[in-house]
Amino acid sequence: MTVNEQAAERATGQSAGHASGGDPEHEAVIRIRGLDNRFGANVIHEELDLDVRRGEILAVVGGSGSGKSVLMRSILGLLRPHGGSIEVFGQRLMDTEDAQRIISRRAGVLFQDGALFSSLTVLENVEVPLKSHRSDLSGQVRRDLARSKIQLSGLPASASSKFPSELSGGMRKRVALARALALEPELLFLDEPTAGLDPIGAADFDRLLRTLQRALGFTVFLITHDLDTLYAICDRVAVIADRKILAAGPLDEIEQLDHEWVREYFHGPRARAARNPESTRD
Ligand SMILES: Nc1ncnc2c1ncn2[C@@H]1O[C@H](COP(=O)(O)OP(=O)(O)O)[C@@H](O)[C@H]1O
Ligand SMILES: [Mg+2]
Repeated sequence: MTVNEQAAERATGQSAGHASGGDPEHEAVIRIRGLDNRFGANVIHEELDLDVRRGEILAVVGGSGSGKSVLMRSILGLLRPHGGSIEVFGQRLMDTEDAQRIISRRAGVLFQDGALFSSLTVLENVEVPLKSHRSDLSGQVRRDLARSKIQLSGLPASASSKFPSELSGGMRKRVALARALALEPELLFLDEPTAGLDPIGAADFDRLLRTLQRALGFTVFLITHDLDTLYAICDRVAVIADRKILAAGPLDEIEQLDHEWVREYFHGPRARAARNPESTRD
């Protein structure tokens, strides 16, 4: 096995020998190989490999500015990678238009800031993807579907007619989640969904996400720096460091990696608290 194959195996969590054959137990919904991203002289990703498996919650962690959001934006076709390949649902995304077309129909996205339309009500916000992609449906059916997603996201029916500014931060996240789920996606992208929430709001959001994921079976690509989220709901964790995926695997394996950022992140005082919530109250 070459050094590159070894690195690929660590990043994707599967043997490089099987990578192209497709492991039926771990079908990759997203398959990234040799991804390069740079802004001028600023190299963000270099030879980055990552698989996201069907039905998992994969958490992507890494230091601030390590390229987590850029990675998500490349998959979504919102920026054009410098090199490498990205396959989603078995289709190689050859250009950004391809990616946007496939992704906008089959994936839901919750951006870092929630990005709700402030001039639209909650119901209208959740209807936006339905209007873009399900023009075959009548307005009444679209509204009923939007209402069902609002309810699914744990919001009271009375929230539908409110504007985002009238809601708490936690409720706005739920609206963004309802909107991301509007088209019943197979794949859900979330960029720091619990950032800005208090710990109780964050834990509620995590639980909701886990419950919906189990019930509906979608795959989750979740960027987070929230250790509580990692310990509470993630199936695997991928670490971005040194411009690539350092490793992807179960949390107990990732915690043991011999890397400076990983040690600081997973073995600092906040990690101890997240692992053992009772011990933090002193
Ligand atoms: N549109 C852009 N133009 C130039 N540089 C960018 C752009 N977007 C992100 N970057 C740079 O890429 C790096 C990674 O950013 P990002 O993916 O947002 O980090 P994070 O891991 O915190 O999400 C940062 O150094 C950031 O300044
Ligand atoms: Mg970011």
